Amino acid sequence: MLSAETISFQKKISALGLQIPRAQVVLGSGFGNALEEAANYPGWNLVGDISFRDIGIVSSTAPDHAGKYRLFSRGNNSVIFQMGRLHGYEGNSPKAVTAPVMVPRLAGVENFLLTNAAGGLMAEYRPGDVMIIRDHVNLTGQNPLSGENPKRADGQDIGPRFPDMSNAYDQAWRNRIREELKGMRVHEGTYLGVAGPSFETPAEVSLFSRWGMQAVGMSTVWETIALCHSGARVAGLSLISNAGAGMSDEKLDHFVILDTCRAAAAKIVRGLFSAMEKELKL
Ligand code: HPA
Repeated sequence: MLSAETISFQKKISALGLQIPRAQVVLGSGFGNALEEAANYPGWNLVGDISFRDIGIVSSTAPDHAGKYRLFSRGNNSVIFQMGRLHGYEGNSPKAVTAPVMVPRLAGVENFLLTNAAGGLMAEYRPGDVMIIRDHVNLTGQNPLSGENPKRADGQDIGPRFPDMSNAYDQAWRNRIREELKGMRVHEGTYLGVAGPSFETPAEVSLFSRWGMQAVGMSTVWETIALCHSGARVAGLSLISNAGAGMSDEKLDHFVILDTCRAAAAKIVRGLFSAMEKELKL
């Protein structure tokens, strides 16, 4: 599984004159223009793009999700920004949703920084705040590792049948990102992943906050599970785009949410460039 896509990906990376990138940042909803707005990040060169379609991965239909990898280099190192992710609510299987991270993972990328937009479940969370993900609850009812234990191209298992999820979100990355986002309002908490696409009812939001969850969204948990199974180092953060349904008088509107995210998203992207420089010594 994924071997043809992985080989195509490796070929495209070589064609751009790069070694296997050191890290991949997944840009979630609201982060669509963040790279342009954070452009000319000092010391990094834009090398080029690889579209999902060109390597056999389906493209996203969600607004603000382009469906490509953008490569940046710094000295001999490079990093990937995944622009656009796939979601279950678009009708994709959990395996399809994880392909845009697992193809580069199987090609040798080791670090993954996942971002998303999420509804805040804490009264003190405001739109534009960041929540670094300490842990998650997968309430989607599905898991990307269902079925035969996924294998590498050489037939070896990618990871154990029952992977340990005790430290799914890497502590060192969490500390590093918090450090680099100084100046923003940054929290740490548990992300609850739901299937969507309907937003939550106020009753669901009230239940989730009484369960002790801090943010709710429609992505990320499947990617974390598949990556964690493969032994990758994973970090995640939520950009709080709105208060959970029923917690404020605002009506939930996806396009308003995207707008709220833009300014904060550019700041976060700049912070992630610095976090990668320091954590990976680039
Ligand atoms: N709920 C679920 N997903 C979301 C939300 C929300 O309130 N905001 C952004 N993504």
